[in-house]
Amino acid sequence: MAKLACFFMLFSVAISSFLPLFHFVTASDPGPGLLMWKDSLEIKGPLNDSWTSNTLSPRNNCCGWIGISCDLKGDITRIHLSGMGLVGSLVDFPFLQFPSLVSLNLSLNSLGGILPPHLANLTTLTTLDLSRNNFFGQVPSSVGSMNKLLFLDLSRNYFSGVIPPEISTLVNLETLFLHSNNIGGFIPASLGNLSSLSDLDLTNNNLTGSIPDTIGNLKYLRDFDLAVNRLSGPIPTSLGNLSRLICFFPAVNYLSGYIPSELGKLRNLLFLELSYNNLSGPVPQFTNLTYLRRLHLHDNQLSGDISGFSCLNPQVETIDMSNNQLYGELSSRWGQCKNLASLKMSRNRISGKIPTGLVELAQLRQLHLSSNSFEGEIPKQLMMRPYLFDLDLSNNNLSGNIPHDFGMISELRFLRLEKNHLTGSIPKLIGTCWKLVNLTMGNNRLTGSIPPEIGNLNSIRVLSVDHNLLTGEIPLELGNLVSLEILDLSYNGLCGSIPFSFNMMTSLVSIDLSSNRLEGEVPDFPSYLNISLDAFANNKDLCGTFPGISSCKTSTAHAKNKNLLLLILLPVSGATILVLAALVILMIYNRLGKIRIHNLGHEAEVTPANLLSTLNFDGKKLYESIIQSTKGFNSVYCIGTGGTSSVYKAEISTGETVAVKKLNALYESNDVGLKTFAREVHALTEIRHKNIVKLLGFCTHSQHSFLVYEYITRGSLRNLLSTDEEAARFDWQKRVDVITGMANGLCYLHHGCSSPIIHRDISSNNVLLGSNYQSYISDFGMARLLSSTDSSSSSAETYGGTYGYMAPELAYTMKADEKCDVYSFGVVALEVLTGHHPGDLVALLSGPNAPSTVHMTLLKELLDTRLLPPSHKLVPDVICSTKLAFSCVRVMPESRPSMLQVCQEFESYKRMAVLVDFNAVSIGHFYD
Ligand SMILES: *[C@@H]1O[C@H](CO)[C@@H](O)[C@H](O)[C@H]1NC(C)=O
Ligand SMILES: *[C@@H]1O[C@H](CO)[C@@H](O)[C@H](O)[C@H]1NC(C)=O
Ligand SMILES: *[C@@H]1O[C@H](CO)[C@@H](O)[C@H](O)[C@H]1NC(C)=O
Ligand SMILES: *[C@@H]1O[C@H](CO)[C@@H](O)[C@H](O)[C@H]1NC(C)=O
Ligand SMILES: *[C@@H]1O[C@H](CO)[C@@H](O)[C@H](O)[C@H]1NC(C)=O
Ligand SMILES: *[C@@H]1O[C@H](CO)[C@@H](O)[C@H](O)[C@H]1NC(C)=O
Repeated sequence: MAKLACFFMLFSVAISSFLPLFHFVTASDPGPGLLMWKDSLEIKGPLNDSWTSNTLSPRNNCCGWIGISCDLKGDITRIHLSGMGLVGSLVDFPFLQFPSLVSLNLSLNSLGGILPPHLANLTTLTTLDLSRNNFFGQVPSSVGSMNKLLFLDLSRNYFSGVIPPEISTLVNLETLFLHSNNIGGFIPASLGNLSSLSDLDLTNNNLTGSIPDTIGNLKYLRDFDLAVNRLSGPIPTSLGNLSRLICFFPAVNYLSGYIPSELGKLRNLLFLELSYNNLSGPVPQFTNLTYLRRLHLHDNQLSGDISGFSCLNPQVETIDMSNNQLYGELSSRWGQCKNLASLKMSRNRISGKIPTGLVELAQLRQLHLSSNSFEGEIPKQLMMRPYLFDLDLSNNNLSGNIPHDFGMISELRFLRLEKNHLTGSIPKLIGTCWKLVNLTMGNNRLTGSIPPEIGNLNSIRVLSVDHNLLTGEIPLELGNLVSLEILDLSYNGLCGSIPFSFNMMTSLVSIDLSSNRLEGEVPDFPSYLNISLDAFANNKDLCGTFPGISSCKTSTAHAKNKNLLLLILLPVSGATILVLAALVILMIYNRLGKIRIHNLGHEAEVTPANLLSTLNFDGKKLYESIIQSTKGFNSVYCIGTGGTSSVYKAEISTGETVAVKKLNALYESNDVGLKTFAREVHALTEIRHKNIVKLLGFCTHSQHSFLVYEYITRGSLRNLLSTDEEAARFDWQKRVDVITGMANGLCYLHHGCSSPIIHRDISSNNVLLGSNYQSYISDFGMARLLSSTDSSSSSAETYGGTYGYMAPELAYTMKADEKCDVYSFGVVALEVLTGHHPGDLVALLSGPNAPSTVHMTLLKELLDTRLLPPSHKLVPDVICSTKLAFSCVRVMPESRPSMLQVCQEFESYKRMAVLVDFNAVSIGHFYD
């Protein structure tokens, strides 16, 4: 390194010695001044080696230093030190020594303190970029004297005070970025004098007062961003003069009055977002906005008849007018909006029929018409839009049947039809929408029985069909829904017994079977589910061991059901057809009393233990020892369950404790399948990293397939965060360490092994904590393992993640890559920082264009309140972790960092000094 630097130095001296004729010694030599400034920095990054007195030539020459560019005379014209990891302030910066400086770029560092007034002596500057630092205090009014400035970016700092009116003397200014600070006061009317301005971004500050009329003078303005402030008053009609405007974005303010019809003259507008204000009156005629892509007017008090309104031009992609007081009917012309992907009109007073034209929208992904007064039938082919993934028609007056044409919507994830007057039966084909997550159809008049096909919906989390007229028995197959969290079948006429398979639904948070005509024994739900007695209230004759329910008199029904249960245990997912076939066989044979259950699930060999790969254990012994230690996988030893497996704690004969992950999925025991599987397992046993749970081996057997892992004492991060005492002991140092450990483990999986291993299912359930709170990633490679055994390709994909941790792009594509893990990592990191799953927060931040009040939330309010705020020493670590976490949950995969970048970032933040007021850091500073 030193050699290289020397060479470089000689080279640059040599060059400058060719130019002596043009060299005039300037009055003051900036070299020593810059050196003094460098010495004042707490962290100097690459400057440390490059900027030294040895590399200064006698003639004022620091032109060879990193980040410095000079003109032919040897005068410094540009200083570009963006992202150099600098920590310190500008107090010692030699502002007076640059007579020719044109461009100063110090963005993306950790420079702090106030801006010294001498900054303004850089009167030759055309570009000044101090964004993404920790500067605070008032923006100095002296900037007004830097009258050559074309570009001024002070965004993403902690500036407070007001916008100095002197800024309006910068008549050449084309770009003014002050967003993401804490600047208050009014927008000075004199900004209207900045006649060259084309980009003005004041988003995410604390500005009050109204938008000055004079903005209408800025005839070159293209981008005008004001979102997330406290602006009030009307939108000035003068904005109609901004004929070049492309983006007008004053969302999340207190603007009132009508939307001026003059905005309809802005022919070049692409984005118009007026949401979250107090605007009233009708939606103006926007027929001349022929390029508009996005129109967001939601969460205002707009009223008026929208019957004449439809998308304004065929390019429009999203329209959101939810939460207003609009009335009238939806025009049939909506059918012509060829590119419309999202239409949201929920919570208005719209009536009439849902226009059949909507079924022609080829791009439609999201349609929200809930909480209006729509009537008539659901258009027959609406459910067949190929990209439709979110349909909400709830809380209307819709009648008729639920269309039975479901065949093609494999993308559908959210279907809400509750609170209507729908009749007829639940379509069987709904079982083909295998990506469904929420299915709610409560409060209708549905009849018939619950189709068993619903048991195919592997990913479903919420299923409610309460308050209907459903009859018949509850299908046994519902027990397959191992991801189900909310099940509401209450207020129907369901009869028969509660299927014993229900105790397989190990993710349940809430279940309601009350007010039906159920009888027989209540299954043994795992006790940690905390099911309340109310779930069974008002039925015919339920009995069993459930606390508060009378015990059963005879045990015959019981015995029969137990058999079914055992069978279900084997092939939980992926092979439902097999289950059904096997069931029929079982029923027949069971009656004849001939065949024992364990011969059914597998066709092939019934050797006691078919050992595939273990390190130093005797396979058969290990197998037996595990079975013995867990009493044949008795639920007492179960320490956790997930979508595809249950985990047991087992003490094996060597005295060691291991974690045994018993797979629910059925493994084909054909040779090819087994060989691929063995190869995969073998590869995974070779992974060794301190933040990854060691996989010790794998056993397959006609009855059980399981993976053997090292046992990690404190269990999952999710469990730890869910108990208050544990969480209180989990202090900031430990939390930061857990996040870095997790990052290192993932870094190793992505960048350390010969071919990257994508985890696909990072969640707080899969991050385990050791006795000293070291973090361990578990379940890596599961996705690959599971898909390597599953020949039917589509069902393998359903293993790709846990709801709430899955990257948003997985809604459109199933191609999981590293960036999906990065997203999930970000969610878990936020969970560690906030103490709970950051669901809504992530949705708000990562929404397609969501501006929101979250920006103003202070970081300290977001962090887990069960702990005291981080100590001074830990503030940088916590801020760094938060920053990185937010960058990981960005919507666009390509704008997320790689795991490698995340790890490097953590490294470079170590020992960063605190220059920020922790109490003032708001979420907006992490927002991109
Ligand atoms: C910076 O350079 C000095 C010598 O010029 C050296 O002593 C010091 O260790 C360096 N600091 C870092 C952080 O590299
Ligand atoms: C400052 O440097 C960063 C990093 O190179 C760059 O992204 C940014 O555009 C620069 N700012 C200006 C005004 O050129
Ligand atoms: C720096 O600027 C201030 C005010 O803008 C001025 O009074 C002072 O003379 C300037 N100093 C130099 C050395 O130009
Ligand atoms: C915003 O400004 C108001 C006064 O106008 C002040 O009371 C409030 O504290 C400011 N908010 C922040 C986050 O600084
Ligand atoms: C649209 O533009 C045409 C032609 O410039 C003009 O006559 C008409 O009034 C405009 N309509 C609206 C609603 O602004
Ligand atoms: C899915 O259902 C849950 C529970 O009712 C709800 O919180 C969530 O917002 C729903 N998601 C969507 C997209 O409707």
